[in-house]
Amino acid sequence: MSGEPYATLRCIACGRPWPLDAIRYTCDDCGDLLEVTHDVGRLQALRGPGAWRALFDTRLGTRDGPHASGVWRYHELILPDLPADEIVTFPEGNTNLYRVPTLEREAGSTDVRVKHEGENPTLSFKDRGMTAGVSWARHLGARVVACASTGDTSAALAAYAARVPGMKGLVVLPRGKVTAEQLSQPLAAGCLTLSLPTDFDGCLRILREVCRRRPLYLLNSVNPLRIEGQKAIAFEIVQQLGWRPPDWIVVPVGNAGNISAIGKGLFELADLGIIDRVPRLLGVQTEAAAPLARACREGYGARVRVTAGETAATAIRIGDPVSYDRAVKVVRASGGFFESAGEREILDAKALVDSSGVYICPNSATAVAGFLKARAAGRIAAAEQVVVVATAHGCKFSRTTIEYHTGRPEGDGPRRANRIVEIDADPGAIERLIDGA
Ligand code: F0G
Repeated sequence: MSGEPYATLRCIACGRPWPLDAIRYTCDDCGDLLEVTHDVGRLQALRGPGAWRALFDTRLGTRDGPHASGVWRYHELILPDLPADEIVTFPEGNTNLYRVPTLEREAGSTDVRVKHEGENPTLSFKDRGMTAGVSWARHLGARVVACASTGDTSAALAAYAARVPGMKGLVVLPRGKVTAEQLSQPLAAGCLTLSLPTDFDGCLRILREVCRRRPLYLLNSVNPLRIEGQKAIAFEIVQQLGWRPPDWIVVPVGNAGNISAIGKGLFELADLGIIDRVPRLLGVQTEAAAPLARACREGYGARVRVTAGETAATAIRIGDPVSYDRAVKVVRASGGFFESAGEREILDAKALVDSSGVYICPNSATAVAGFLKARAAGRIAAAEQVVVVATAHGCKFSRTTIEYHTGRPEGDGPRRANRIVEIDADPGAIERLIDGA
């Protein structure tokens, strides 16, 4: 698409516009975050709702080029001003939407699905935001891209930066607070990997300061371009359901960029008439870091900030979410709410879904646990269709899984432990076990 730009940056608080190609993350006037605003009128004039749906359905058969990606299939609604030949894609997206009977039974629900974002190239949903962010970084001529991370954004940044000749990645990680698998990913991709003795909130604060003084392109979700890519999770969910939106979408929340992106995408689809209503959003945090759940309980008064405690859901161990305001806005506008879940609930929910063969991470399980609580409390009805977004693959968090299944015995510990059986290296021993001897 060419000519006048289709999209612009706009301050989420005062609405002041900024050019899309400005390298900035906040508004000079009020210091608030920026978001990409699309020219809805022009997109409406380009195609009607049925023609948009048909276009995206046609592209599902594409094997090569950007349209084979589950993000760039929706190019016109993501970054219409980015030329197709500048896109950096693996491709990503096209993740499965699974029925999970164990979860449906436990919840007493008729239709619950898990959108498994762990099936992306670096095993988390972060690839969707990163394909947009790194493509735009290259478009702007950025040489060094950087992020602070709890382990998944860094893996994605490292992989996408490695695809661009001459581009360097730099990631800032809280020491001892990302898993071994997550730490291995930027190392493998040749990325400059910094480990700091602080938590995620501290890492991000320090990196933002460096970015004010050095020409680093910041790819945390303060960068509005990342949000645009992540919208495609919502686009895929509704397309996979034949463009009929589910009643609820349940999302684990850390820095709150993802739930903001999913909400933004849904409201844009509704503006274009592509869907006829917006699903309600349930955002779930770990009790160890639940400022939004607390704000929701307290009626959204003053902004809540907490110091994050220990949790198995390490990727959402964030006490002061950057996209707090954006998330509150979309969740409330959707008619949804925020919830939190404790450690036992998270780990048992993970084992429940895992035992169906769909292997998820503790962060994803936080969303599952929040959904189960909302069902038990009657806030989600049995007949309502629910999609839970699983944000990363269980294989990134293998230690949590192994510790759960080798943990303390029933009654006092895990409800669904599947014990390792240690046995002699002898066929007879296996046969006796099988025979129940
Ligand atoms: N699930 C996983 C697996 C994550 O890695 C994250 C965030 C979230 C959920 C929450 O998403 O922050 O948009 O609310 N991980 C970031 C990172 C913070 O650095 O990888 P959010």
